[in-house]
Amino acid sequence: MCAKILKPTDLALQGELYVPGDKSISHRAIIFGSLANGETKVTHFLDGEDCLRTISAFQAMGVSIKKEGQTVVIDGKGVSSLQEPTEPINLGNSGTTARLLLGVLAGLPYHFALYGDESLTKRPMDRVAVPLREMGAVIDGREDGKYLPLAVRGGNLNSIAFESPVKSAQVKSGVLLAGLLATGTTTVVEKTTTRDHTENMLEAFGGSLAKKDGKISINGKQQLTGTHIHVPGDISSAAFFLVAAAIKDGSRLTLKDVGLNPTRTGIIDVLNLMGVQLEVVEERSIGGEPVGSITVAYSTPHATIIDGDIIPRIIDEIPIIALLATQAKGKTIIKDAEELRFKETDRIESVVHTLKALGAEIEATQDGMIIHGNSKLHGATVTSYGDHRIGMMIAIASLIIDEDVELENEECIAVSYPSFFEDLTKILK
Ligand code: S3P
Repeated sequence: MCAKILKPTDLALQGELYVPGDKSISHRAIIFGSLANGETKVTHFLDGEDCLRTISAFQAMGVSIKKEGQTVVIDGKGVSSLQEPTEPINLGNSGTTARLLLGVLAGLPYHFALYGDESLTKRPMDRVAVPLREMGAVIDGREDGKYLPLAVRGGNLNSIAFESPVKSAQVKSGVLLAGLLATGTTTVVEKTTTRDHTENMLEAFGGSLAKKDGKISINGKQQLTGTHIHVPGDISSAAFFLVAAAIKDGSRLTLKDVGLNPTRTGIIDVLNLMGVQLEVVEERSIGGEPVGSITVAYSTPHATIIDGDIIPRIIDEIPIIALLATQAKGKTIIKDAEELRFKETDRIESVVHTLKALGAEIEATQDGMIIHGNSKLHGATVTSYGDHRIGMMIAIASLIIDEDVELENEECIAVSYPSFFEDLTKILK
């Protein structure tokens, strides 16, 4: 394995950038397009490895899905057209494919075998397998179906009333998708709101659900109709450059047409809370999802406390927020974020180890981290641990380091942002 050397730079981040399409929305466009009748066209689709896993899973079930660059055309023939795959389905690194697909497979009268890479094989699947079993699916695997590889026999699902013990949009979405294929009305209660792209996308495909006081109800056996989905820029990818511009002297950068779904905009709230100069303009709605452009300029941030209901709204942004906090005045505390332990890596440990190796003063807690600010970071050899967001956090950290940073295992960045380094080079001026 050859490490990438990230050289010191005097350049700042300038101009405008369109980040690739949203990962969560791209996955869901493929899933709903495959369940619907009629053609679905997805534009500005995220061409990342995770979303390609969702495409190949549905292709394995006989769905015609054609991709040219960032445009995907699905020839949907409805749920009854899906076939039993003859081969095991490889989910790669993708937790979203795993949890959402399980919901769909639970509703189909076939046998499925699922496996993933080393990281996904360590991530809990029982959080979705347990409610799906309660609906009638048979799911087995290591440790009573907690971990991949899994075997699924689906079909004949009954509805359930489910209150998720974890704050997870993937779990909510897996159960809602199973509810769509079940008999009766399934309800999911969430104590803390998580991203609602599944709910929005269902409506975009002509389906319906009821939402009240954190309770979501979905009727089974709804017919969906293919549609055009234009995927907004991924705010979770934009977040890396928003923080980069905030900490790199002389920067002023605009991220264009970024998704601004309120369940995802916690990063904007955190940047505001920490005193980063930021402006959101050109706000409008595209295909049921709000979008806008975000401008950030070099700032002198200050520390804050991040906890409670904002956590699901920044869950993927915490690594880059932690980097920002190393440059802020004062002590930043992140709490209530135990879900970080179940991501591509245990992101409490991987963030803390990595930033410490780069010279930060940071400590892990059971449900978050404490970061002492105003740190002068220094060069080191560090690894992404195969986690795309740790890899991108390291690349952004290198922009404020006066020595070489050696990044091992950078290839994993292609999971969510294959053109990350090209885009970074474009805006360094
Ligand atoms: C996602 C939900 C989040 C997030 C992941 C994508 C989704 O996971 O971390 O990157 O598309 O539903 P959890 O729901 O497990 O928190």
